[in-house]
Amino acid sequence: MGHLDGKVALITGAGGMKGIGRACALKLASQGADIVLSDFKREPGDLPPQEVKAQWRSIDSVAEEVEALGRRSFKIWCDLTVSGEIEDMARQAAAHYGHIDILVNNARAIIGRDRVPITELREEVWQRFLTINTTAVFLATKFVAKGMIERGKGGRIINMASDASKRGRPLMAAYNASKFAVLGLTQASALDLAPHRITVNAVCPGSVNTDRLNYWEEAQAKAQGISLEEFRARIVAEAGKSIPLGRMAEPEDVANMVAFLASDEAAFITGQAYNVNGGSLFH
Ligand SMILES: NC(=O)c1ccc[n+]([C@@H]2O[C@H](COP(=O)([O-])OP(=O)(O)OC[C@H]3O[C@@H](n4cnc5c(N)ncnc54)[C@H](O)[C@@H]3O)[C@@H](O)[C@H]2O)c1
Repeated sequence: MGHLDGKVALITGAGGMKGIGRACALKLASQGADIVLSDFKREPGDLPPQEVKAQWRSIDSVAEEVEALGRRSFKIWCDLTVSGEIEDMARQAAAHYGHIDILVNNARAIIGRDRVPITELREEVWQRFLTINTTAVFLATKFVAKGMIERGKGGRIINMASDASKRGRPLMAAYNASKFAVLGLTQASALDLAPHRITVNAVCPGSVNTDRLNYWEEAQAKAQGISLEEFRARIVAEAGKSIPLGRMAEPEDVANMVAFLASDEAAFITGQAYNVNGGSLFH
């Protein structure tokens, strides 16, 4: 069916209806991989309005899509703030399929409460960003890589970083710090795992046309008396004007890079951080 036939990919944060995780799941499945879909159960108030309207059911919905592509799917609810749940996720996924070949560390803390000047940033918000965006990447890598090493057939670990891993911005101290750290983690773990033919790379998208919930955007939309969808549409149109290739990235643009890094063709690439940003940042 495809060049990922027989491979198993575990993807965190895979339940968003327009999320990068879902796009990665569908892309890897379309290339033959069986998929482990992981996400956490969000509070109803933390769901994007489009998902509520569409009666979207997070990884339950994505699992049906993966199966419609003829691949197997396995769902694991995991709160990435709890290290024991991350260890269980790695164990359950490996037990279900016998192995994990590809790990995509994609989830992130719901953004918005961090969008304040550093002097206003609450320590609990800072901790949450570091816990989900950085520590969970470390822990998932640790637990999944152990199984890959035991199996002795190499592997692929792909960390979803950001242009925020390379450039600081105002009101983004927690997000920037958590995503810069992902690049250090990517390089160091690439070196630790290279003897086992496990590659570790990062993908750094610029702004992506997802409809993720963002508390800050929600508040801005409310203040302007418009819906969150309308506010997002304006951001997407505006962003397109400043991106050299003339549009915001789609989740599928990012998934294409993930699929390449997951493939055999990328066997000699490790410790790298690839931009997917339409030309808006070069380093
Ligand atoms: N959307 C963008 O513009 C953009 C730009 C650059 C990088 N990225 C990166 O791409 C990745 C995906 O972004 P997105 O916009 O598709 O996703 P998103 O913001 O919708 O969140 C990703 C997923 O993480 C999950 N999540 C949140 N808290 C969790 C927890 N405690 N435990 C388990 N899962 C949890 C969410 O439920 C969601 O499914 C993220 O790492 C993000 O930093 C996104």
